[in-house]
Amino acid sequence: MTDLARRIAETADIVTVALDALLPRADGPETRLTEAMRYAALGTGKRLRPFFAIETGKMFDLPERPVLRAACALECIHAYSLVHDDLPSMDDDDMRRGRPTVHKQYDEATAILAGDALQSAAFEIMAHPDTHPDGAVRAELVRKLAHASGAQGMAGGQMIDLLGIREDLGGVARMQRLKTGALIAFAFDIPLIIAHAQDAERHALMAFAQDLGLAYQIVDDLLDAEGDPKALGKAAGGKDAAMGKTNYVTLLGVDAAKVRVAHLADQTRAHLDLFGDRAAILRETVDFVLDRNT
Ligand code: IPE
Ligand code: IPE
Ligand code: MG
Ligand code: MG
Ligand code: MG
Repeated sequence: MTDLARRIAETADIVTVALDALLPRADGPETRLTEAMRYAALGTGKRLRPFFAIETGKMFDLPERPVLRAACALECIHAYSLVHDDLPSMDDDDMRRGRPTVHKQYDEATAILAGDALQSAAFEIMAHPDTHPDGAVRAELVRKLAHASGAQGMAGGQMIDLLGIREDLGGVARMQRLKTGALIAFAFDIPLIIAHAQDAERHALMAFAQDLGLAYQIVDDLLDAEGDPKALGKAAGGKDAAMGKTNYVTLLGVDAAKVRVAHLADQTRAHLDLFGDRAAILRETVDFVLDRNT
């Protein structure tokens, strides 16, 4: 294991422990719902969005707790997005993170409610005074997470994905930036908001995040085409193409999509020049996440 892989794994453990403590437990008939939320959120996710937030927080010398709590809120939104993404009315998937999807393990209504309640949990965690002493900072975190997950972010991108409006590569790029890029960009926005970062730093890091988010989804689409379902813990074997989805891989083919990822990786790293050595880990992370096979 490389030092970076170890660092990512250690952060994933810290996030899982924190999520376990933050997610509700119920005593009563609604226990079914809290169990389904925990099943969805506490599985073997890579926790890359929290890693992005936490590493960038270190780059700005921020205290740990605000960033960790905000990163957990983001991870709850991500988990909710996956639960709903897997529903029969959306991607109709049976496996997620190496286990049956929430609607397979429980039932469809429970999966819908678990996604809803994970979304609520995210905002409860974010808005809690323990996340940050300054109410204005908390309000900004809440507002931007809402934007990144809503109609002009993840949910909007999911709508475009389902409608199949992607006449050209530009249309596909826009869909990807919304459905995946917006939440990834928010991971980097957490430390920017908490640090009251200067405009130059904000612009550079947001440009970095935008390109990384797009490349991240193209790699996900490549893994759907040629990844190993066992390693991925979810369906592959060209399921996107079989479902009639359009993405960089179905439009351009595997080889051209890989070239596109390589170009985006260079472009992504270049946005970090402003930060010099402070961004060494983020620079290394670009290659690590784009070379992933899970
Ligand atoms: C999967 O996200 C869905 C996409 C937006 C590509 P991840 O690849 O981060 O999945 P987990 O959280 O590690 O399961
Ligand atoms: C989903 O993209 C992105 C979300 C916003 C959840 P995919 O549908 O390709 O993600 P996977 O492959 O099911 O993880
Ligand atoms: Mg999908
Ligand atoms: Mg899917
Ligand atoms: Mg996919």
